[in-house]
Amino acid sequence: TGYVTLDPGFVNTAACSSEICYIDGEAGILRYRGYPIEQLAERSSFLEVSYLLIYGELPTQAQLDDFTERVQRHTLLHEDLKRFFDGFPRDAHPMPVLSSAVSALSTFYQDSLKPFDEQQVEISTIRLLAKLPTIAAYAYKKSVGQPFLYPDNSLGLVENFLRMTFGFPAEPYDVDPDMTKALDLLFILHADHEQNCSTSTVRLVGSSEANLFASISAGINALFGPLHGGANSAVLDMLERIRDTEDVQTFVKKVKNKEDGVRLMGFGHRVYKNYDPRAAIIKKTADEILSKMGASDELLDIAKTLEEIALGDDYFVERKLYPNVDFYTGLIYRAMGFPTKFFTVLFALGRLPGWIAHWREMMSDPATKIGRPRQVYIGQTERDYVSVENR
Ligand code: CMC
Repeated sequence: TGYVTLDPGFVNTAACSSEICYIDGEAGILRYRGYPIEQLAERSSFLEVSYLLIYGELPTQAQLDDFTERVQRHTLLHEDLKRFFDGFPRDAHPMPVLSSAVSALSTFYQDSLKPFDEQQVEISTIRLLAKLPTIAAYAYKKSVGQPFLYPDNSLGLVENFLRMTFGFPAEPYDVDPDMTKALDLLFILHADHEQNCSTSTVRLVGSSEANLFASISAGINALFGPLHGGANSAVLDMLERIRDTEDVQTFVKKVKNKEDGVRLMGFGHRVYKNYDPRAAIIKKTADEILSKMGASDELLDIAKTLEEIALGDDYFVERKLYPNVDFYTGLIYRAMGFPTKFFTVLFALGRLPGWIAHWREMMSDPATKIGRPRQVYIGQTERDYVSVENR
């Protein structure tokens, strides 16, 4: 006792054991519940992957149908919660809007305040999966001053989200199947990533026995930061800045000299010291998706040049910095018509099942204790109080 190890950023400290997600950062391997991400990306769907992450096995057809039906049934937001969006400024960033609305779910569903009641956890799980896309779409609608659309539960989760985001009331909305498929794929690729900053946050908050909504709301706030989920927006800002004001070489030089702390956003990862397997899948599909959607993008050319230069440059090679999941996603989101500010919301929609799976795993693990890191105190030793006139 009295002995603690200092490990800023938890670089070498495991906080839990988990069965959900496996990463081999040296080899660039990612598996959900043992299934390689490449196979899931090619053959599965986001809802099926959500089921896999949360319940541990791929569903049978009957289980998948039942799960889909239950999620579809809960997409509607309470009318009072809808009014909540009017309280925010129109130019509000959608991430705090998202986390606030999720936090508010605890007030509308007070049965959720029993984190050990299995039935309540189950209904909270379904409500979150069903309502987060509606909340996200309303955050968007509010920001552009357009009317909210009620969900159409005859549509799949991703289609419904796209319709609520880009559609108009009383107008048919032709959901583009290529866009639906691409977004579903991106959600699969974001669905879990073991103990990243936001998932660790969800676990830490949940370890105090806070309910699912409170814990996920905290996770959304953790994801907001530019070193985590906010990187997908930051990549696009960076590419636009390069296009408008400087060339790629000058920018890379700045990064290498660490001028003003500028980093190559969308590059580097705590765990991957090899090509991020998610980035490899996204890069492969980015061209295809962009050309299918008729978007030839000069920013994509800049991104590719940046990658080529970085992968051949000693600074990046020595530090094992490769493109991560966020490097190419923004370009696809942009081609779909999402504003840059909204990209991190899309990450949150994808990561939701992973957060839920980790929260549930933690709550049912008898080894769980309240998260309470220690510290190494480096402040003043004992000293005597001095009255204000003598300071
Ligand atoms: N550009 C330039 N240099 C970098 C970068 C980068 N993107 N990432 C790391 N480095 C350098 C860093 O300066 C340090 O160099 P030195 O040894 O000379 O001081 C070395 O590489 C190690 O970096 P670190 O900050 O100790 O690494 P970390 O594991 O603490 O940070 C990271 C990981 C993802 C925060 C970091 O790589 C980064 O800031 N990347 C840019 C932001 C980004 O793309 N984030 C998304 C991550 S993936 C999805 C997600 O989690 O949301």
